Amino acid sequence: MGDFPAEPYRIKSVEAIKLITREEREKSIREAKYNIFKVKAEDIYLDFLTDSGTSAMSDNQWAGIMTGDESYAGCRNYFHFEETVKSITGFKQIIPVHQGRAGEHLLFSSILKPGDKVPSNTHFDTTHANIQFQGAEPVDILIEEGLHSEGQYPFKGNVDLNKLEAFIKKVGPEKIPIGMITVTNNSGGGQPVSLENIKQVSKLYHKYGIPFFIDACRYAENCYFIKMREEGQGDRSVKEIAREMFSYADGCTMSAKKDGLANIGGFIGLNDEAWHKKITTKLILIEGFRTYGGLAGRDLEAIARGLLEALDEDYLAHRIGQIKSFGELLASVGVPIVQPTGGHAVFVDAGAFLPDIPRKDFPGWGLTVALYREGGIRAVEIGTVMFGAKDEKGNDIFPPMELVRLAVPRRVYTESHFKYVAKVFSRIAENKKSVRGLKITYQPELLRHFTSEFKEI
Ligand code: F0G
Repeated sequence: MGDFPAEPYRIKSVEAIKLITREEREKSIREAKYNIFKVKAEDIYLDFLTDSGTSAMSDNQWAGIMTGDESYAGCRNYFHFEETVKSITGFKQIIPVHQGRAGEHLLFSSILKPGDKVPSNTHFDTTHANIQFQGAEPVDILIEEGLHSEGQYPFKGNVDLNKLEAFIKKVGPEKIPIGMITVTNNSGGGQPVSLENIKQVSKLYHKYGIPFFIDACRYAENCYFIKMREEGQGDRSVKEIAREMFSYADGCTMSAKKDGLANIGGFIGLNDEAWHKKITTKLILIEGFRTYGGLAGRDLEAIARGLLEALDEDYLAHRIGQIKSFGELLASVGVPIVQPTGGHAVFVDAGAFLPDIPRKDFPGWGLTVALYREGGIRAVEIGTVMFGAKDEKGNDIFPPMELVRLAVPRRVYTESHFKYVAKVFSRIAENKKSVRGLKITYQPELLRHFTSEFKEI
């Protein structure tokens, strides 16, 4: 593994994991209809399905859990949570929600109407679907560099400003009740967005009177990249950079399951009082009272503490170094990955790795099945199953890249786990014919990757 700072923590508690036999794995994936989401977590050895809600909490967070005030209204942990989030984001209103997508739903159902458009660098799948659910259209306007897995451009998550302005002029600002940006750009490879780009995007939206929101799930990792890669930012603290970043926005949606280092939770931050009122009414209807929003008091405490731990720069140096080193390890055994590695995951270019499987047969999905079969590893396809569509004539529309994401839970796996993954990949690389394409036998209308069923070709 490459040279990066060792863990700035030590292990106080462990959880057993087990590699079941090949025959058992074969049975398990068959019974799951070749959908890795349907495999029991106990049958997984190393789980890189997501970095969301899978963090190891610290002793400090667990201690905070014991101080949970479970009063229905006005619990003390809410005020600690609110004060912490305000100190990081500067937003006037902080609305707790049980996770990021609940915030998305509350926000979009309060402000969007059918026919509206919502641009971003790249919307994450739940954001995309929540916009569509309101009859509106999510629109991704990423710079060209971000659409290619090769190339070392430092901020591949940036928005293409010219295209964004052309888009606003074309559809008209009255059709765009909100403009967004995702940091880091999860669906585009976990790539960061530069502070300058965020500032310019904000200026552009505001020039046309469009409110600007940040999807902030991985904002701390994004701000660490800004510190390391952006000119003039190296001497600032990550917290200072974060504060400036949020100052350009009118609000944010946040899943605390990522850079909140919590197992559940999220929030909406915003400044607009009319939107706040609308959202709060709905919050009470579906999530809970204003001071707990679908969470227990103890969860709010774990988030408040986790948010600060995720801004610790020794932690971030280890975290980002670990991901980079994991990517180098995979590249060293001949696996093409999205370059440079992003903040929370290594994205394998499955299209390039498996050129013999046509995209209509889902090479990325095939690779997730192969990783499980070969090594009990769970990864997620971010390709045609997740983002593919059909045009009016029934022809396939493929997303720009066919990726498989190995998302790394925070503070969970060690170097030897990553070496094991590389070994499994090199076995697959030696026998690519063992990876099979698939056909869908069942799919729902929205978010099909979660529940689709397949058969192997
Ligand atoms: N926005 C982004 C950029 C995300 O990555 C996610 C979740 C959400 C919003 C929704 O948050 O899960 O708390 O409801 N991403 C997870 C992932 C699920 O695996 O990337 P949530």
